[in-house]
Amino acid sequence: MEKIISLAKRRGFIYSGSEIYGGLAGTWDYGPLGVALKNNIRDLWWKRFVEDREDMYGVDAAILMNQKVWQATGHASGFSDPLVECSGCKKRFRADQLDDRAKCPECGGKLGEERQFNMMFTTHVGATQDESTISYLRPETAQGMFVNYKNIIDSFHPKLPFGMAQIGKAFRNEIAPRDFTFRAREFEQMEIEYFIAPKDWAETFEHFRNEMHAFIKDVGIGADNVHELEVPEADRAFYSKRTIDIEYDFPFGRKELYGLAYRTDYDLSRHAEHSKIKLDYLDEAAKERFVPHCIEPSFGLDRTVLAALCDAYSEDEMNGEKRELMQLDPKIAPVKAAVFPLLKNKPELVGRAREIYRDLKKEIPNIMWDDNGNIGKRYRRQDEIGTPYCVTVDFDTLEDGTVTVRDRDSGKQERVATEKLIRYINK
Ligand code: GAP
Repeated sequence: MEKIISLAKRRGFIYSGSEIYGGLAGTWDYGPLGVALKNNIRDLWWKRFVEDREDMYGVDAAILMNQKVWQATGHASGFSDPLVECSGCKKRFRADQLDDRAKCPECGGKLGEERQFNMMFTTHVGATQDESTISYLRPETAQGMFVNYKNIIDSFHPKLPFGMAQIGKAFRNEIAPRDFTFRAREFEQMEIEYFIAPKDWAETFEHFRNEMHAFIKDVGIGADNVHELEVPEADRAFYSKRTIDIEYDFPFGRKELYGLAYRTDYDLSRHAEHSKIKLDYLDEAAKERFVPHCIEPSFGLDRTVLAALCDAYSEDEMNGEKRELMQLDPKIAPVKAAVFPLLKNKPELVGRAREIYRDLKKEIPNIMWDDNGNIGKRYRRQDEIGTPYCVTVDFDTLEDGTVTVRDRDSGKQERVATEKLIRYINK
């Protein structure tokens, strides 16, 4: 894990939040390559779950919501983790993550009584600060969809089953943020609330279970490292009748990557009761009104980025030299190809390489230019960030119009005609 964290920082994937001020625990800043990787994953998700389907409605709801939303769902009173404080060093811990609930893991001191700690960040909206102006940074994107259920029904008149999808930030004041970006206080979720007739819940659950695995495969994360955990009733969120956690073998252990939950009609019913607005569905054929039930596949975007990095990281030897390698799937690789002139002090090579670089960049996003150091060093640098292809422009290019294309994983080199380069890389 240390090697991955160090590479992520050194090469501009992920930095500590507010680093020059000593950081802010549980916050992370994505650098240029991290943003590109995250955007690629986000786009894959949106394409699969929204654009390629006819039954999904995308939304982008406000992060700040009326406090009544969180009172209705029970988050204001119940979205908490068990907290214990050491009577000696005063450090605080999540009680359910301790092996020994009586003894401080830091100083060996006595731990106090367990109490519930609400994880929502509170803020105030407007210039006055009293009970009525309280708002929260949303702890899940899900509620932005439930509160817009009626808007989607009124504007699009969808027939059941249909879903709403959203990608956005969520915030939790985690007691113990840890394991790099795995448990952060600010993170991004990609969530679907899929509305169904109650009788269809089991079939829909299976559908999304398969779709979640298909997405993981699409991202290029190896199935061998992915597992399922049937969450027992005692550990399920208060709203769920069935939950499966999809877990990944991170270097720090097997941990939750995504969750799939059958939320029943809990959220819509609670919002209907608290807002006094009807949130039901008219089945015209059966002349019957009912509150739809809901299946919720929930994906952490930052955890996907982390799992993709962990899965892709490897070390090997090439031409007698050790190398660090990110075997990212080309679909999500932040840089698709890098273009080099063989020598940077030969204007004719640099000029032709620049032209090829510009032509590629017009057609394929995220093409990189590199003319620093020797070719071997450039290859190592691109291997580290997962660039699938390196394109070298040399003297033969000026003669016969071909370039050397070098494959990241095998190191194999091939001469490719310049006019076929875009098709070659796209393929
Ligand atoms: N709407 C349901 C929900 O929020 P969750 O299991 O609490 O369920 C869903 O969160 C997903 O969000 C998790 O599977 C994980 O990928 C991501 N997630 C949750 N807490 C996180 C945290 N503190 N840091 C990073 N990602 C987190």
